[in-house]
Amino acid sequence: MKTEVAIIGSGPSGLLLGQLLHSQGIDSIILERVSADHVLSRIRAGVIEEGFASLMKEAGIADRMQAEGEVHHAVEIAVGDDLHSIDLFDLTGGKSVTVYGQTEITQDLMKAREASGRRSFYEVANVCPQNFDGDSPFVTFEKDGEAHRIDCDYIAGCDGFHGVSRPAIPDGVLTEYERVYPFGWLGLLADTPPVNFELIYIKHERGFALCSKRSESRSRYYLQVPLGEKVEDWSDDRFWEELKRRLPSSVADNLVTGPSLEKSIAPLRSFVVEPMQYGRLFLVGDAAHIVPPTGAKGLNLAASDVATLYNILKRVYQDNRTDLIDRYSEICLRRVWNGVRFSWWMTKMLHHFDEDKFEDRVRDSELDFFLADENRRRILAEQYVGLPYEPVE
Ligand code: APR
Ligand code: PHB
Repeated sequence: MKTEVAIIGSGPSGLLLGQLLHSQGIDSIILERVSADHVLSRIRAGVIEEGFASLMKEAGIADRMQAEGEVHHAVEIAVGDDLHSIDLFDLTGGKSVTVYGQTEITQDLMKAREASGRRSFYEVANVCPQNFDGDSPFVTFEKDGEAHRIDCDYIAGCDGFHGVSRPAIPDGVLTEYERVYPFGWLGLLADTPPVNFELIYIKHERGFALCSKRSESRSRYYLQVPLGEKVEDWSDDRFWEELKRRLPSSVADNLVTGPSLEKSIAPLRSFVVEPMQYGRLFLVGDAAHIVPPTGAKGLNLAASDVATLYNILKRVYQDNRTDLIDRYSEICLRRVWNGVRFSWWMTKMLHHFDEDKFEDRVRDSELDFFLADENRRRILAEQYVGLPYEPVE
């Protein structure tokens, strides 16, 4: 087989890149290890920055998001019983975020992919990007026990943190930066009306909690739990009880509980690899970086990588601007590190750390400081809505 861009991974990064390239008449083939249903069964975050929303519009797939997504002009931070509103819209001169689940975005992208007629292969094995340090890269894989080869111009490694693209880069090229946090998030999804219209990030002495939502009838809640905690030890009742204890009392009375649709524990990690490219192979999204979910930057950073790669490849195919290729990593990493720092900062300020009482107090004071006046809240707001995308030249 032959294509222009071979895309490894059918998560939001791979699908969005494929769709944007298609809008410019650039062909791609997507290879995915698991089934489409499996990809759609993963419950992930759902706060969309304006840059990402514009990209969805540019790719022609924003109709359902615009109809069903909820535009939010504020986000709330609770410290014990005190609730502070961060007025994103006013503080940023009119910016907002859209609450729309990653699962919905992935579904919209998969539908668009099918309509585009471009090729995708699901449930493939032994995907192997090869020869990308030369001029004629190719990807080999197996489907139903049969071996295949795709010759291409470029390879996009959109295969997440556990993918094959990053490890395929020769030893000694990449530098990894990592921070593992001493706790995880226990998430619960339920068909109950959300406790509050706006999202609430809660700092509490029993640990952080987050009230989020997917719609007016579907809630998503999270609790900070110690590492090593097992989801089996968390009955729905135990979850609701613990959440109620962490909610500010003015909000707790509104909590509607119900059976969980999904419950899982995710560890928290910050990770960045530099550079995000080698020869004709590009690392995109979670393949290159992971952030803790405090601040909802993971999906949005993936989208800005996709925007950068798409804008470069567009110029390469339209105007033969192959000189831009080398700029991918450098452009992505500036925005990535900002998102990594913001997520680390939010995580630090809002979570409870057992090990150091002094640092705990310093973190309390830091949050108080940033909530205290408008100019300081603006610093938080500008980063929450997301920095602008950097042009490729
Ligand atoms: N071969 C083919 N596909 C693979 C391989 C492989 N060897 N390894 C992993 N994949 C697939 C995974 O099954 C998955 O569907 O690559 C896809 C990667 O998708 P995600 O992990 O969702 O990563 P990405 O598309 O970059 O999405 C951005 O940012 O913070 C997060 O929650 C956010 O998942 C979102 C991500
Ligand atoms: C979510 O809705 O899953 C969500 C929202 C905001 C976050 C993290 C997760 O910061």
